Amino acid sequence: MKHINIAILFSGNGSNLENIAQFLRLDSTKDKLESIGLKVAITLGLCNNPNAYGLKRCENLGIPTQIISHKDYHTREAFDEAISEVLQKARIDLVVLAGFMRILGAEITKQFTIMNIHPSFLPLYKGAHAIRDSFLGSEDFGGVSVHFVDENLDSGEMVLQEKIPKIAGESLQDFEHRIHTLEYQIYPQALLRVLEDLARGNGLGDKTKA
Ligand code: GRF
Repeated sequence: MKHINIAILFSGNGSNLENIAQFLRLDSTKDKLESIGLKVAITLGLCNNPNAYGLKRCENLGIPTQIISHKDYHTREAFDEAISEVLQKARIDLVVLAGFMRILGAEITKQFTIMNIHPSFLPLYKGAHAIRDSFLGSEDFGGVSVHFVDENLDSGEMVLQEKIPKIAGESLQDFEHRIHTLEYQIYPQALLRVLEDLARGNGLGDKTKA
C-alpha cells in the first residue's frame, strides 16, 4: 500500500477543504483507493491568513495546520520557499489549493504537483472575481475548472471542467450557490482522477523526493 500525504492550501472559508476531507474519509472512497493500492490522507492544512475560517474547520476535522503569512516575507520567492520547506518536511505528495489567494511561482510549481479549483469555465474569467465576472459575461453558461498549477494565474493543464447553464432572471447569489455546489462535486472527482493516475505509476508530489 502506498501512502499519499496531501496538503491543502487555503486562505479563507475552507468549504472545499472540508468537502474534500469528508470525501476522503468516506468508506466508499477509502475502499476505491485501497483497491488501487493507495491510502490517502490530508496530513496538513497550510494557510496564509491567520484569521481564515478554514483553520477552525481543520481543527474540527483533526487536520494539523500551519500558518505562513505572506506578510512576513519581502518577496514572493521567499514566501514560496517557506511553503516549500514545510511541504518537504511534511513529506507531502500532492498539493491541493482550495481558495488559496496567492500566486505560486515557477520554482515551487515545478517542484510539487499542485491542483487548483477555479469557479469559471477556464480559460474564461481568470482572477479573483471569476463568479461575478462570469455571471455578468455574455456566455449562456458558467462553470468550474480543476487544473494543475503552473506559475501563471489560473493556467496549467486541465484535469476536469464542467459548465452549468445560466438561468434567466437568476440572482448573482443563486448563481454563486450553484457554482459552489458544482465545485463540491467536481473537486473530489478530479482528485480521484489524479490519484488513479498516480496509482498507475505517473510521478506526482515532491519531485525532489526519491
Ligand atoms: C472557491 O470558489 C474556489 O473555486 C476559489 O475560491 C473559493 C474558495 O472557497 N478558488 P472555499 O474557501 O473553499 O469555501
